[in-house]
Amino acid sequence: MDIEELKEGIDSWETVMFLYRSALREVSTKLDILNDEFIQINNYNPIEYIKSRVKTPESIVKKLKRQGHEDSIENMVKYVNDIAGVRVVCSFTSDIYRMAEMIGKQNDLTVVSVKDYIKHPKESGYKSFHMLVTVPIFLGDQVVNTKVEIQIRTIAMDFWASLEHKIYYKFEGNAPEYISRDLRACASIVSDLDAKMLQLNEAILEAKAQQEEEKE
Ligand code: GTP
Ligand code: MG
Repeated sequence: MDIEELKEGIDSWETVMFLYRSALREVSTKLDILNDEFIQINNYNPIEYIKSRVKTPESIVKKLKRQGHEDSIENMVKYVNDIAGVRVVCSFTSDIYRMAEMIGKQNDLTVVSVKDYIKHPKESGYKSFHMLVTVPIFLGDQVVNTKVEIQIRTIAMDFWASLEHKIYYKFEGNAPEYISRDLRACASIVSDLDAKMLQLNEAILEAKAQQEEEKE
């Protein structure tokens, strides 16, 4: 059963928020395990850090208003996809796609949609890889597939997005054009930095492999 089909009696605010909190824990644990497995096999950790949060009631209501929906529990589970959100911050761009692939392969997760804002950045300059997934939450008498939004990005992308978010909030979306332009320019610098770091990492791995070869 999907969260949208919650039956009378268990569709209280508390029950719904409990489901989202549980879903967040399930997904966070999965990501931790994937990271640990990766360290064990490749001696390398693709995840720098993970942040997760449940959206505040104020923010849920605000979003529903913005979408033109009445604020009801029914509408929030149907239309607000990021009530439970996990942000996975990776070292390199290549790690993002590696993580996304591993997440996609998890049998008990259902990928609902994918948005690649790295290949197709937003007008603002925003870059990240988004996946909307559902995870089954096993209650006493039923299983509820609960939505979690996963955002995967590099440290550099996260740095830009965090600062841009703060600035955007200061202007409530009405930033002067020269500021938006400068933010886009910063996004481009951040992308160059990511590309440079990825190159450097590949060069380091190659140099290291060569040294090992010479030792033998
Ligand atoms: P929202 O209504 O903002 O959630 O957008 P959406 O439903 O179209 O989904 P989308 O995948 O575009 O964005 C979801 C989330 O990505 C947002 O809640 C932000 O966390 C992040 N995001 C999207 N665009 C931007 C942006 O331009 N700047 C920053 N800082 N974050 C963004
Ligand atoms: Mg959002």
